[in-house]
Amino acid sequence: LSALPEGYTCRPMQRNDYHNGFLDVLRVLTTVGNVTEQQWDERYEWMSHRNDEYFLLCITNDEGKVVGTGALVVERKFIHNLGLVGHIEDIAVAKDQQGKKLGLRIIQALDYVAEKVGCYKTILDCSEANEGFYVKCGFKRAGLEMAHYY
Ligand code: ACO
Repeated sequence: LSALPEGYTCRPMQRNDYHNGFLDVLRVLTTVGNVTEQQWDERYEWMSHRNDEYFLLCITNDEGKVVGTGALVVERKFIHNLGLVGHIEDIAVAKDQQGKKLGLRIIQALDYVAEKVGCYKTILDCSEANEGFYVKCGFKRAGLEMAHYY
């Protein structure tokens, strides 16, 4: 595993990350909307009861501000002998922190968790523009994403 630059920490997401800029980091990825603290707490609570299924990581800087995040969702299957599949979701590094290998470190950490909990593979969807990043993280192109928006 590659080391983090000095002053940065990688740790599980925590309830008070609402106040540490977690949602702002996600805004580099897509629309987040206006999530109130109560809504955040409810979702956090829901996930905390599923802590063998949802693994959310944060990278923080020396001031405790969230500068990167990513999630692993572990899916339980019947196929492949009740196999587990890891899904990597919502990887984001703050604009002014990109290019410091923080993204790579997030993927390595999530990959480590996936293997530890017994996933036989980990998959993700990304744009063509991000393919090179995931190739550097050890992933390879497989299949094709389909979506039905409501
Ligand atoms: N294309 C090709 N190579 C790339 C790209 C890219 N888009 N981005 C990074 N790399 C390379 C880097 O140059 C580096 O290569 P090196 O080891 O030869 O120096 C390597 O990949 C690791 O890069 P990091 O520094 O770890 O990348 P960073 O911390 O900037 O994070 C990320 C990459 C997460 C894509 C970031 O740019 C970002 O947050 N982008 C906006 C949000 C986004 O698109 N997230 C991914 C959505 S897909 C999903 O969530 C499953």
